[in-house]
Amino acid sequence: MRDTVIGNILTDWKEDYALDFGGRDLHLAHSLHKSEMFSDEALVRLLEYSRRENYHVKATDEGGTGNREGDLGDLSGADILKAVRKGKIWINIQHPEAVDSAYGEMIADMYREFEARVPGLQTFKHMSTILISSPKVRVRYHADVPGQMLWQIRGSKRVWVYPNQAPYLRQDALEKLVLKRLHETDMPYDTGFDQGATVYDLEPGYMLYWPLNCPHRVENHDCMNVSVTTEHWTRELRNIYAVNYANGLLRNAGLRNLRRQRSGPGMMAKLAFAGAAKFSGMTRSAQKPYRIDFRVDPDSPTGYRDIDAYEFRK
Ligand SMILES: [Fe+2]
Repeated sequence: MRDTVIGNILTDWKEDYALDFGGRDLHLAHSLHKSEMFSDEALVRLLEYSRRENYHVKATDEGGTGNREGDLGDLSGADILKAVRKGKIWINIQHPEAVDSAYGEMIADMYREFEARVPGLQTFKHMSTILISSPKVRVRYHADVPGQMLWQIRGSKRVWVYPNQAPYLRQDALEKLVLKRLHETDMPYDTGFDQGATVYDLEPGYMLYWPLNCPHRVENHDCMNVSVTTEHWTRELRNIYAVNYANGLLRNAGLRNLRRQRSGPGMMAKLAFAGAAKFSGMTRSAQKPYRIDFRVDPDSPTGYRDIDAYEFRK
């Protein structure tokens, strides 16, 4: 029966997880893998009804060094799943709640549970993305801007999580990422970093939450994977973001030795500066468009075929 006070998503919560929430990796059990929201039927509906701006299809380029972006054409959801099962692609569906409000309730419930369990935690700007990916697909080394969790639903994957400091995460790369001048997968990576990583084999019914901006990379085991990533903000995370954002603009303007304030007037000034810069639109024109150069194809062994490239801007 549903626990109406705290909820039933996190199934093995222990009190001490609350003490260090966001400060170290958490690898927790959850119940979402049992939900009908991730059946083939539900995925077909998501794939067929998601609007173009709410999905990305990706594949690795031939050199294995970059990501290509594709589209779904007018395929049925069943054909798209067929291409994922046999091919080498991954699909990110953003704003699943636009197709079915049950996904919106799901993410609200997830964070309500954390807030009920972690004293003082207040989160906002929740977002969820559903990832449907081919066997053995790899997601390259990258970092994400907001607070982020990875929930495994179907299939299994190996996840490497790296510390959120140099050399794994360089301050200039983080600032570019925050300014959206670096795509999330353009983060400098060296195989030697792996010695400093914590490695998880993520199975259905388990989730990972790592500290803010920790770089990570992922390799699916030999099966189709369905996962959910959730994003959130807190006031503390927003303040760190604003300082990185302001420092990124100031560094572009030639300033050096920038402080990373966590509180006080310096932080408040940067919060205001970052807000004003974003509001004025002065950073908008620098954002990169996506180049779409393949289409999902269930009859191809890779799950896609090349098309004439075109640009897509969200
Ligand atoms: Fe990520």
